[in-house]
Amino acid sequence: MEIAQTTHRTAAQDHLVRCISCGEANGPLAADFRCLHCGDLLEVDFPKWSEGLAPDSAALKTLWRERRTSNQPLDTSGVWRFREMLPALDDWASLITLGEGNTPLYDLPRCARSAGVEQLEAKHQGMNPTGSFKDTGMTVATSFACQNKFRWVACASTGNTSASMAAYAARGGMRSLVIIPEGKIAWGKLSQSLDYGAVTCQLRTDFDGCVRVLNDIIRRYPIYLLNSVNPYRLEGQKTAAIELLEQLDWQVPDHVIVPGGNLGNNSALGKAFLEMMRLGLVDSVPKISVIQAEGANPLYRAVHEHGRELVAVDAETLATAIRIGNPASWKKSLRVMEATGGCVEQVSEAEIAIAKAEIGADGIGCEPASAVTLAGLKKLVKSGFVRPSESVVLILTGHVLKDPEYTIQFHRGDLSVPRMADEEFHTLTAKQRKSPIVLDADADRVLRTLAAEDKRDG
Ligand code: F0G
Repeated sequence: MEIAQTTHRTAAQDHLVRCISCGEANGPLAADFRCLHCGDLLEVDFPKWSEGLAPDSAALKTLWRERRTSNQPLDTSGVWRFREMLPALDDWASLITLGEGNTPLYDLPRCARSAGVEQLEAKHQGMNPTGSFKDTGMTVATSFACQNKFRWVACASTGNTSASMAAYAARGGMRSLVIIPEGKIAWGKLSQSLDYGAVTCQLRTDFDGCVRVLNDIIRRYPIYLLNSVNPYRLEGQKTAAIELLEQLDWQVPDHVIVPGGNLGNNSALGKAFLEMMRLGLVDSVPKISVIQAEGANPLYRAVHEHGRELVAVDAETLATAIRIGNPASWKKSLRVMEATGGCVEQVSEAEIAIAKAEIGADGIGCEPASAVTLAGLKKLVKSGFVRPSESVVLILTGHVLKDPEYTIQFHRGDLSVPRMADEEFHTLTAKQRKSPIVLDADADRVLRTLAAEDKRDG
């Protein structure tokens, strides 16, 4: 195996960085965050928790609640407020925060009826500073990059990681290199990375091709890698699970449903729930299930066709955030699924579009990749995996304004989806579409439109 040339140190004594396969811990970190012995992924562990030095769970709950009245940046961040469960920086002056986390938990009454469950909630991670869940991980990983005195940070991305990285790098005074697939990035995301000052390279390939190119670059240039193979990112992303349970007064929901792309986020949330159980904050964990788009379903196929081994696919879906054929964190993801009793499901482009419009109609909205959660839930209810009386939380990962082109094309009836004839797609989605109405500037015409709507409703 080729070993990356650049290495950097781990931080304080409070945590280990350990290989998920061979268990090797706390050597210098390779630039590609792969184990220097066996090449597998790394994860953060807290050995003191096993040495009788775990923090007291009741004290933690009180402390975290008290911090909500503080105005210190470490406390107003919805990530660092939970810092007892995060790796500590040696030098807190390196902290980069935009006040991430602190995202709302919404109930979705209409979506619940549509899915056939009594109680449905959404943890909206799209309400983070740059409009996606990536910020929760980025505050931790960029702070470590800053502490390690990196001048450059980089990621390959389907758009949200790059937007988030560009913002946090700018805040921390670092330069950022964005590698994205040309033509497959939602406009909101591309515009963010430009505005935050990243060097933005659109490569004529897909996300998986971008990852290959970036891996080559980091072997040849001292750049800090901010893809989700970076274990510090997943540590930050864990906090959505902690914040969720705090919002639910520590009542554990039966199911948490997460979109699956590179498979870092469900792994991070699973790690958090299992760690909260280890610390005695709760005595059970939710079943964590992953939903993929049918056209980008390598985890689904690994479980249902390939005996739990990953075989890369050529990914194609309009949910561009999860257009990924060779996900890095698939092993972590399978472990979480096994440990929590979750499952993996796939959904069609039409199912995604309908679910997205339904989440919008509940007054919330999200980007297409997030809507796979509701689409998947419907299938899990039909199959009996989720019972109507069980409590379910959807993790909405990105803001509705990330991909306005998709939304407008959908409502206008201009959206063409892969693997389905336009006519069939438009027939299936007719009920959810709300086309804009162009009229002469005349009150009578608008009133006639209102009357027609009223008649349709009534
Ligand atoms: N939802 C959104 C909105 C995303 O942007 C992503 C991933 C996911 C879900 C899937 O999360 O990769 O942890 O399984 N976006 C990455 C990016 C790949 O580059 O922005 P995952």
